[in-house]
Amino acid sequence: MSKGFFIAFEGGDGSGKTTQIKLLAKYLKDRKVPVHLTKEPGGCDMADKIRNLLVKGDVNSLDDLSEFLLFSAARHEHVRTTIKPMLDNGHSIITDRFYLSSYTYQSFAGGLDFEFVENITKKAIMGCEPELTFVLDINPIHGIARARERQLFQDELRMESKKLAYHEKIREGFLKAAETSDNIIVIDAEQSVEEIHAEVIKHLENRKLI
Ligand code: TYD
Repeated sequence: MSKGFFIAFEGGDGSGKTTQIKLLAKYLKDRKVPVHLTKEPGGCDMADKIRNLLVKGDVNSLDDLSEFLLFSAARHEHVRTTIKPMLDNGHSIITDRFYLSSYTYQSFAGGLDFEFVENITKKAIMGCEPELTFVLDINPIHGIARARERQLFQDELRMESKKLAYHEKIREGFLKAAETSDNIIVIDAEQSVEEIHAEVIKHLENRKLI
């Protein structure tokens, strides 16, 4: 049985993760590479329930610690019931967000102690580390404009309705995180959709993941 790969896409609002994940999934499908697409917060029944608490409702209803613990609980269930069993069975997985979002949103921007966040995260992910994480980097002014076009703000308002300075901090957090690991790749998300896709493929080939 060939070993599957596990990769994550990260980035701020409107960075184009969903478009790139769809394109990559099609590329892989055309080459008969079976892949499971998933998304955080969510990815399994219990995590989807937790997602509703996190992304809907009043922007100030949870503090950063409660938010992080809920993201972590959702992540742990996602890994325990879906990601780990699938990887163990040789499947490949692409996730739209993973723990780098918690490092960035809850620790770097939210102010939670990094060691604490890292320790809980290590427990939550049960050793399931993505081989590669793509950070799609975009100026938040452009990202927010794109997200608005998609009317993202209508349904799931809680996380996205924060101020520009916050989104700039998120961008900085992802870029800083990328400096800490060769497995985190920053891609300029202001390029065309095709250029970004080509970069993604190039990196996956370079790492011999495809
Ligand atoms: P979502 O509606 O899934 O949108 P997208 O991923 O396309 O931005 O929103 C999820 C929100 O949750 C998003 O604003 C990022 C945030 N988030 C965290 O703050 N921490 C996390 O660990 C995760 C996974 C997401």
